[in-house]
Amino acid sequence: MSNKIRIAPSILSADFATLGEEVRRVDEAGADYIHVDVMDGHFVPNITIGPDVVKALRPHSKKVFDVHLMIAPVDPYVEAFANAGADIISFHPEAGAHYHRTLQSIRGLGKRAGLVLNPATPTDVLDNVMDLVDLVLIMTVNPGFGGQSFIPLLDKIADVRARIDATGRDIDLEIDGGVNPETAKLCVQAGANVLVAGTATFKGGPEKYADNIKALRGA
Ligand code: DX5
Ligand code: ZN
Repeated sequence: MSNKIRIAPSILSADFATLGEEVRRVDEAGADYIHVDVMDGHFVPNITIGPDVVKALRPHSKKVFDVHLMIAPVDPYVEAFANAGADIISFHPEAGAHYHRTLQSIRGLGKRAGLVLNPATPTDVLDNVMDLVDLVLIMTVNPGFGGQSFIPLLDKIADVRARIDATGRDIDLEIDGGVNPETAKLCVQAGANVLVAGTATFKGGPEKYADNIKALRGA
């Protein structure tokens, strides 16, 4: 696996009134992935954006669009997000009874497939699907909102790192929730290589984005 740490600003913390411009700004500020949080007000207690917004944002950046689906059911919407320009499509195993099939269908659309583990979701959900995942996302907050405090699930991160290394494949280990320069360091030490950061990227306004991303990468 590559040792490079990737930073994925979550546009949940961006100014939604100027989202295209915000995506361009974090791209120019050094983002590796653009993390897009999709919430349905049902699987999680918040509502954000859908495939049409992803499609509208797509021309604003060539970076990897890392789309995190917090919706249930997930299967009826996978194709729409693929067509909208997602590069990685991640979802929660609780969002459908047949997550093996969902992973297959994301792959079948030519996209990278990610499985997301809530804080209470055990790592053994990965047992029979490691050959189908391109990314594992460990939530270090309960999904729904930005700006929550980091839950230090460091043993869990290390467990998933060991599972990934055992495959010999280049699978991303991404952490999402409460990531700041201090917690980022703990995550990287435990084995993470992609860090989602909403609050920590967007705080202080546009002139701070590059410094904020640099501080996270410094981990
Ligand atoms: C939470 C989302 C996160 C969120 C992270 O449900 O999945 O991506 O935007 O926000 P911060 O970095 O502020 O914890
Ligand atoms: Zn997210």
